[in-house]
Amino acid sequence: MRGRDLLSISELTPDEVELILRTALSLKRDGGGHELLRNKTLALLFEKPSLRTRVSFDVAMQELGGHAIYLNQSEVGLGQREPVADVARVLSRYVDVIAARTYSHGTLLDLARHANIPVINALSDEEHPCQALADLLTVRERFDTLRGVRLAFVGDGFNVAQSLAEGAALAGMSFAMASPAGYSLPEGTRRLISESAERNGGRADFYDTPAEAVRDADVVYTDVWASMGQEDSYAQRKEAFAGFAITAGMMALAKPTAIFMHDLPAHRGEEVMDDVIEGPQSVVFDQAENRLHAQKAILALTASDHAL
Ligand code: CP
Repeated sequence: MRGRDLLSISELTPDEVELILRTALSLKRDGGGHELLRNKTLALLFEKPSLRTRVSFDVAMQELGGHAIYLNQSEVGLGQREPVADVARVLSRYVDVIAARTYSHGTLLDLARHANIPVINALSDEEHPCQALADLLTVRERFDTLRGVRLAFVGDGFNVAQSLAEGAALAGMSFAMASPAGYSLPEGTRRLISESAERNGGRADFYDTPAEAVRDADVVYTDVWASMGQEDSYAQRKEAFAGFAITAGMMALAKPTAIFMHDLPAHRGEEVMDDVIEGPQSVVFDQAENRLHAQKAILALTASDHAL
């Protein structure tokens, strides 16, 4: 994977997903002390706010012997003060890898096209592959396997859901998604995910009601109803998503051993009730921690000069 971009999880093969997860687990078990990215620099180019992604990438670089520079939109003016292509070519002369959070996936593609260093998607309007890899790592740690594990995603068919569904399909999981009418993933994307899941020994099913997805699930996952950039449609979304909140009653439909996941930040009392996210089945902070370990693996595999 050395020198490669990571823009979408669907660019990976099942073996590459497995390699990233194995590397992440190994780096997590070993603790610090690695110098895999000694003297390497990561540019964190962010058009949107972040807590987890920004801090976990920064700490990942430090713990692997390198360092990170945070660049926000008010400083860089990506596509405004300067064309995306020029930013990509300038950064390629200074740093070794870019992690970019953009409103538009097209901006990310433009950046990757013109950079001659790896570009990692730190969230776009289509995908959040680093989140999905950390999520798969979290599920794998809990169940010792991904194959056949039933993951129910209840909520919006946006970036987090898309990467999670693609990752689950590559890992041979049983993915079940429930969204209100008009808020599922696009039909073509659903078809590709179902085909990928079947190729890899799993399945993907899409439902209109949360109970159908959650019944007998091993993992119940939800996300905010209005993501960054969708604030204008908040009231309309709140109405559409009524009945899609993860309550204790909803969790009771899943297996007794089921875990609850959320990529955070969460809106308690909307997509998830407080007693669920704070309850014993919740693994949301393990998930947040695993952003660090998954991203260490991604950085080491794409930007290190050392064989792993
Ligand atoms: N889950 C996630 O990407 O969090 P941040 O927006 O805080 O980075």
